[in-house]
Amino acid sequence: MQQVQTEKLKILGVPRYRDERVKVREAAIKACKDKNVALELYSGNGDMSNIYSNSGFNLVVTVDKDKNSEAQFKIPAMNYLDRLEIAIELGAEKDLHKIDLVDFDAYGNPNLEVQRFFEIVKDKMAPIVVVITDGLGLKMKRSRDMKLLRQRFLISGEEAYIDYRYSWKFHPELTRFFMKTVAKKYKMTATELCLLQGKGKNFVFSSWLLQ
Ligand SMILES: C[S@@+](CC[C@H](N)C(=O)[O-])C[C@H]1O[C@@H](n2cnc3c(N)ncnc32)[C@H](O)[C@@H]1O
Repeated sequence: MQQVQTEKLKILGVPRYRDERVKVREAAIKACKDKNVALELYSGNGDMSNIYSNSGFNLVVTVDKDKNSEAQFKIPAMNYLDRLEIAIELGAEKDLHKIDLVDFDAYGNPNLEVQRFFEIVKDKMAPIVVVITDGLGLKMKRSRDMKLLRQRFLISGEEAYIDYRYSWKFHPELTRFFMKTVAKKYKMTATELCLLQGKGKNFVFSSWLLQ
């Protein structure tokens, strides 16, 4: 048993910054009005999924592209979201018509998936709690890929202070700008529940209430 576990952790990698990742989720869970469904899109070995199951969610849906993961759906997050859109349009999978919390615990930056999620559900699931792990900091330190940052954080080219803001030092501010922009697009407001920057500043961990 121990052998299997060790092998699995080796294959999937052990995500770091557990304390930060748990703290943003504790704040997220506290802010959930109802605990019907939690959707976790980068669920890996299920460490964070267990937090949701143990805190009273009726259903925790898990998705991870790795076939060695513990996820129920072993497919990329984008593919799962395409399926979710069809299910909702067809009126299928009634359980998923009210997701109370959606979790994006990515290694990189999941903002395209966050945008896609809200394109599908718009404000129909409000109030909804969103949890994001964003590991774009390292890439931001190494390059100034304006197109990537525009696309990921929804910043328009007209921003006068664009170079200044594209610095990795402003990763938390970019995250705040992004969440508020997404919420506004669908006539909601985003309240910050918890935002932490990992040591080394390669990651921003955050949770949000959209209503
Ligand atoms: C930080 S780990 C997740 C840890 C997990 N939440 C836990 O608590 O153990 C990131 C996970 O994202 C998965 N992943 C990477 N790209 C993905 C994608 N496009 N779609 C779905 N999962 C992906 C990896 O396989 C990995 O398990």
